[in-house]
Amino acid sequence: MSEKKAYTQAHGTGKYDKATGLLGKYDNVRRFWEDQITGIFLRPALNNLVEEKRRRLERIRILDLGCGSGEGYDLLMDVTTKDPAIYEYITSAITQDMLQEYVGVDINEDLLRQAEEYYGHLPKTRFVQGDLSNGLTPELTEKPPFDVYFTSFGTFSHFHDHQSVKIIADICKHAPERAIFMCDWLGRYSYEWQDLWHHPLDKEYFMDYRISYIYPEEERDKVDVASFPLRLITRDEIIKIIDQASKESGTKIKPLKFFDRSIYIGRHMDTGEYNANCPKLRLPANSLFEGYVRTDLESLLVDYVPRSGFDHLNNFFEMFFMSCNTLVQYTISLLSNYDSKKNNLNDIPEILPYYPVPLKEAMEAMRRVIEGVGWVPWGDVRANVIEPHLGYSLRKLEADLQPGTGVGHGLVGIFEIRK
Ligand SMILES: C[S@@+](CC[C@H](N)C(=O)[O-])C[C@H]1O[C@@H](n2cnc3c(N)ncnc32)[C@H](O)[C@@H]1O
Repeated sequence: MSEKKAYTQAHGTGKYDKATGLLGKYDNVRRFWEDQITGIFLRPALNNLVEEKRRRLERIRILDLGCGSGEGYDLLMDVTTKDPAIYEYITSAITQDMLQEYVGVDINEDLLRQAEEYYGHLPKTRFVQGDLSNGLTPELTEKPPFDVYFTSFGTFSHFHDHQSVKIIADICKHAPERAIFMCDWLGRYSYEWQDLWHHPLDKEYFMDYRISYIYPEEERDKVDVASFPLRLITRDEIIKIIDQASKESGTKIKPLKFFDRSIYIGRHMDTGEYNANCPKLRLPANSLFEGYVRTDLESLLVDYVPRSGFDHLNNFFEMFFMSCNTLVQYTISLLSNYDSKKNNLNDIPEILPYYPVPLKEAMEAMRRVIEGVGWVPWGDVRANVIEPHLGYSLRKLEADLQPGTGVGHGLVGIFEIRK
């Protein structure tokens, strides 16, 4: 009996769950790429906010809108103040003592139950049910204001533009003198849904979205996956929404950063449901981060198929995917040129001077990593060191080469509200 109690207790903490690894909602790419890249872009704003709150002898209050199962809590609390040097402990931007309260709001009871199961035991978390389609609910606005109004993974795509304007205007009215606001939509021009690019920009466009990617490929056709509408958006369209909300609330909203999340590894790359030419990249990218699993690196190469009438987008994707391919091919060459008897590289392909700077940096780092660890005969350094490093390097290319205009699965805006 005591062991049942012990296991039940451990399960109840939410910390006993298996990370889903190669497939599923909380796969490796979500944890090591998407959540991390979001944290890296949020870092400067969070650092400034925490510093100011500390000076005022105040702590941070967070509202997570459309919190689902509450994973925003981990995402935010795991943001670090900087990329730590090798001898440093990783320091959180928001340390536990600086958090006053994290409140998650969502319409879905099942997800809220899961959030309670995962995070409800933490004393500073609270989850409430609420429908945000008419703006912030009274239950939220009657309470003290928040310093961070956060959304993640496409939550704003659930709303029509006039609803988004109302939510943002309500946030502006509720916010204190200074707050950060992050809004997250689906990008209009992800390669995953190239078949939908032609929809005119002068109208709000909602795609029929299916969460089919959580099923293994062989099961996808057998399941009747429900579809629901999600708004695809560009940066210019977001700016219009923000301007309108600013006008309606009489508040200044300063854009700090726009970023495209998941250009290379959007969820629907593997399903091909909205573009049959998509390479199945998510699974091999997940495999890069999986310990003791070797990845067929050739499966990371992208044969981009342009869409006529979209020269500007085609030019971007050609440059982006060719840079990724060049890094992958360089890695393959270095691995095949590594002499395991002499413990060195017997041939190093040239890094050409006109390559984009982030690509040159990534290639140079990859060479040094392979030279540095290639000789280690235990612990499968290819699977456990070199492949994750390739994953982080592809992530770096995505972060450094992107325009932040809607060319990824997600388009995120980070703003500062100042009164
Ligand atoms: C794409 S999910 C994001 C979930 C979570 N933030 C995450 O990072 O995984 C969008 C969330 O918005 C919630 N949502 C949709 N419409 C809503 C509404 N009208 N009011 C409140 N939440 C809503 C959904 O239930 C879902 O949990």
